Amino acid sequence: MKSRLGSIEVFPPADKYIYMDAASVGLTHSKGATAISNWQKDLAEKGTVAFTEKDEVKCLDNLNNATAKLFNTSVSDIATASSETVLMSSLAWAVMPPKGSNIVATETSHPSTTYPWMRVAEHSGSEMRWAKADQSLSIDPDEIEHLIDENTSVVCLSHVEWGTGQVFDLKRFADAAHKNGAICVVDATQSAGQIPIDIRISGVDAIATSTYKWLCGPFGTGMMYLSPELQKLSPGIIGWRSHRDMWDFQADRLEYVDSAKRYEFGTMAYGTAFGATVSTNYLLEISIEKIAEHNRKISMHLLDGLQDLGAIILGPKDPNNRSAIVAARFPNKDSADFASTLEKANVIASLRRDFIRFSPHLYNSIQDIDKGLEAIKAVI
Ligand SMILES: Cc1ncc(COP(=O)(O)O)c(C=O)c1O
Repeated sequence: MKSRLGSIEVFPPADKYIYMDAASVGLTHSKGATAISNWQKDLAEKGTVAFTEKDEVKCLDNLNNATAKLFNTSVSDIATASSETVLMSSLAWAVMPPKGSNIVATETSHPSTTYPWMRVAEHSGSEMRWAKADQSLSIDPDEIEHLIDENTSVVCLSHVEWGTGQVFDLKRFADAAHKNGAICVVDATQSAGQIPIDIRISGVDAIATSTYKWLCGPFGTGMMYLSPELQKLSPGIIGWRSHRDMWDFQADRLEYVDSAKRYEFGTMAYGTAFGATVSTNYLLEISIEKIAEHNRKISMHLLDGLQDLGAIILGPKDPNNRSAIVAARFPNKDSADFASTLEKANVIASLRRDFIRFSPHLYNSIQDIDKGLEAIKAVI
């Protein structure tokens, strides 16, 4: 496992930096970036001659097809909008957990996973139930399961936790939710592109993701899978694209699209979807299984090396519950100072609270990790 999986031609900055920051913003696929600017340039030069009304109807289809492959489902189960947050919010208002029911989540989730549910809980009078983390910021999966009962309406999880990279077994929580008549809703923004996701195996009811992290796409695009049942609800956010014929333009008539596409409510920076299509298809061609295997090797090498340098690693001890995110504290070092020194040494990672989060991806090699560890050693 010497070489990178993602080439330098596709990810030129991987040659310039020791870039271990996919959990913040992944390196963008260079041809994806070109697809976005080409679309914008054509629009600027030719307007609707380049981007016709017919094009506008179909412009999200290629990304929806790629997303259906990514999640192993049908294209009619997929919707695209501008971000995970937007799609999750639309879903939360569509579901509207009833008064007196509870919503189970982890306190280590990303705010964009849980805020939409907190907002609707406040509106309807439902209860948020939080699984608590231990000192290493790990969540005991048994604790999540214990919180689920017959009054649970929604189990809402980040597939991979943004801080520690802890991975949850989606099938386990989908099964637990369904046994109690609840739905299981997942934010895959930290997992899509680094870990295989299979709707048919996991049985979850909804999955939403943004594209600028592990999918190596742009800001401005998010996709969501919806179960056939959730596709029948009235989305929380609706607009002209929600109508079955988006050019119908009759303000007092709304007939929803008969698929997940009813959650596609209006215009967006459409070009970003073309960029996300290029990067998602590129990852699929390599195969997410191969990427996960590569990332497991390089991130475990990093984790071992950091531990040898005296770092305290956050998150689960069992490698099976870990992803390529490695969060570390360095005893007697101020993490903020340490992070800025690392940046000067060309090691790109993120300072989060009082720890440093490293997140290598397919464009990193073992040599990169060794170079990074050498730089960290020198800083120490
Ligand atoms: C798990 C997770 N969800 C959502 C987001 C951000 O959501 P959005 O792209 O909708 O702003 C992040 C960003 O760090 C994240 O880690």
